[in-house]
Amino acid sequence: MGLPLSPALKEMIAEAERRGISIPTEKETIEQREKREKEFEEKQRRAWQTGMKKKFWEEYSIWPDGKPEKFIFRDWQPSIQENVQAAKYVARQTLDITNELIKQKQRYNVVFIGTPGVGKTSLALAMADRFREANKFVMFVSTTELKRMYDNRIEKKDINHRLENTINWMKKAEVLILDDFGTEGIGRDNVRVDMQNGMYEVVNARKGKITIVTTNNRIEELKAMYDPKIISRLIPRNRDHQVIFKSMEDVRDV
Ligand SMILES: Nc1ncnc2c1ncn2[C@@H]1O[C@H](COP(=O)(O)OP(=O)(O)OP(=O)(O)O)[C@@H](O)[C@H]1O
Ligand SMILES: [Mg+2]
Repeated sequence: MGLPLSPALKEMIAEAERRGISIPTEKETIEQREKREKEFEEKQRRAWQTGMKKKFWEEYSIWPDGKPEKFIFRDWQPSIQENVQAAKYVARQTLDITNELIKQKQRYNVVFIGTPGVGKTSLALAMADRFREANKFVMFVSTTELKRMYDNRIEKKDINHRLENTINWMKKAEVLILDDFGTEGIGRDNVRVDMQNGMYEVVNARKGKITIVTTNNRIEELKAMYDPKIISRLIPRNRDHQVIFKSMEDVRDV
């Protein structure tokens, strides 16, 4: 039985609905009411999830060019490498890891190791694409840009503020990509102490989450730049979780 609705009331209900609030205009059973409330909560949850997913990827991430990059598994062309088999192998391994992490809900870190231009960031982005499709909060951090923020934090208050927020989000993201890790230790020096402290906080807070690292350095070199405690928490020891780009060439701008 519908209530007699005045035009003004009808307009109010329509407006409420536009804002995602549904107002019952008929007598409901308890079950109907529960169902309606549950659907409303689910809708709210999905809207929140979509918003946060976008925020992590577009706002909280630190991109080299300030905007998100995209690379998907279908973009990977093994034939641009002379060693086609090697290029196929790393993509296959990355895809297997991605499926295991998503479908079997496993939690471990992954590292991509190789010389410049072999496709490490590309495959990390392809993983990110799959995680985002699975509605995960994925954050991308260019370690080079992060180092730049540390270098400017004293003079520029706004950068220091952004840096503090970034460290916080890095602790919270469900999946974190740390791109070009190791470039901050220019000349293989020790990384500046405040950055090491920040990284230490991050890796400790990320226990049980997924962190994906790309690097041009061998693990031993990373241990020379950072406190080994940080590296042992960040870089997986399991060889299955290390994607090593062996006998592959720089294909940037080919
Ligand atoms: N197998 C591939 N198929 C298609 N494009 C590729 C492939 N390998 C690399 N590329 C392209 O080559 C360029 C360099 O790749 P990418 O940035 O992933 O290299 P990288 O290993 O991360 O290098 P760096 O160590 O300098 O960061 C990118 O534009 C990438 O899309
Ligand atoms: Mg890269």
